[in-house]
Amino acid sequence: MYSSRSASHKYQDSVQTLDMPIRKKIILYLALLLLVLLWFIGVKNRDPHQYDNMRRTLELYEYQLKESKEHMAETMRLLGRRDCVTWDPDLPVIYAITPTYARPVQKAELTRLSHTLMLVQNLHWIVVEDSDHKTALVSSLLTETHLNFTHLYEQTPAEWKHKPKEPNWVKPRGVLQRNKALAWLRANLNAEVDRGVVYFADDDNAYSLQLFNEMRLTREVSVWPVGLVGGLMVEKPEVNLTTGRVVGWNSQWRPERPFPIDMAGFAINLQHLLKRPEVKFLLQVKGGWQESELLTHLTTLDRLEPLADNCTKVYVWHTRTEAPKLNMEDKLKAKGKRSDDGIQV
Ligand code: UGA
Ligand code: MN
Repeated sequence: MYSSRSASHKYQDSVQTLDMPIRKKIILYLALLLLVLLWFIGVKNRDPHQYDNMRRTLELYEYQLKESKEHMAETMRLLGRRDCVTWDPDLPVIYAITPTYARPVQKAELTRLSHTLMLVQNLHWIVVEDSDHKTALVSSLLTETHLNFTHLYEQTPAEWKHKPKEPNWVKPRGVLQRNKALAWLRANLNAEVDRGVVYFADDDNAYSLQLFNEMRLTREVSVWPVGLVGGLMVEKPEVNLTTGRVVGWNSQWRPERPFPIDMAGFAINLQHLLKRPEVKFLLQVKGGWQESELLTHLTTLDRLEPLADNCTKVYVWHTRTEAPKLNMEDKLKAKGKRSDDGIQV
């Protein structure tokens, strides 16, 4: 019994092993047939333009890839070559301090100023926003300049903010921002080692490149004429040509000020400033006295270093940009629209 049962088992096994490949083959042929059928249906139904479209899309991708490759190469080239002139370790650094605040013309002002500063050798731009944060506008502008910069912010309290109809000189501007920059200099530079000059470069003035060459070797405090300020074509120190010393001023507006001079008209030696850690600007100072208040703690009339050919040349102008008329923009805004939607101006 045992042996015959085992024989039939064996037979069934061999039938199974013989059958399997045939079934598999049939399934395989059927599957192939189905595939051919599907392919045929696919080919029949295919839009003859489809290949053309695909080819065109591929060509477009190829072109775009080539474009971005070229763009990348150009960006790398620009990054490798600084836009500002090369750094000379032996040359004193000019620390230009610029307070700035958000208004319609801000980007225009900062673009113009940054493009001037890009042409100045060994310059470090300290930009201090009158804001409670670093804005995207100033951040991206600074990154794009390739200048050496420090980006800070310090907000002027509301009660010290200039109101639209208030006369200019009622409240001082840029005070806390300049102090923030002075604190940065004191925290990051060494009075014994670092050589440089500090200059307060407001964002709206017009600057000649010659100005920066003049101020770079300031020993203590240097001065020069400033165009279009103090109600005059030029406000300037008066120089005794025999001694080469400053003896007075031609200022007409508040001439009783100890240093009747605009913020744009002087520079301070870095070490001279760092060795006087208490020197800073103050909010509670009479209108137009900011410069005098600061300079009184730094120098005296007879120690001033007159530059710009004994103060006979104008290399900086106290230009002020007119606020643009935006009456149409206001009308748009009333309708819930704006012209600068999605575009930074
Ligand atoms: C004149 C001087 O040129 C300034 O250096 C001085 O700060 C000012 O007077 C003053 O008495 O306080 P003016 O042209 O009238 O300047 O002032 P702005 O150019 O309007 O402001 C001076 C700087 O402070 C600019 O860089 C400006 O962007 C900035 N500022 C102005 C602020 O940071 N916040 C403000 O609310 C206004
Ligand atoms: Mn100004």
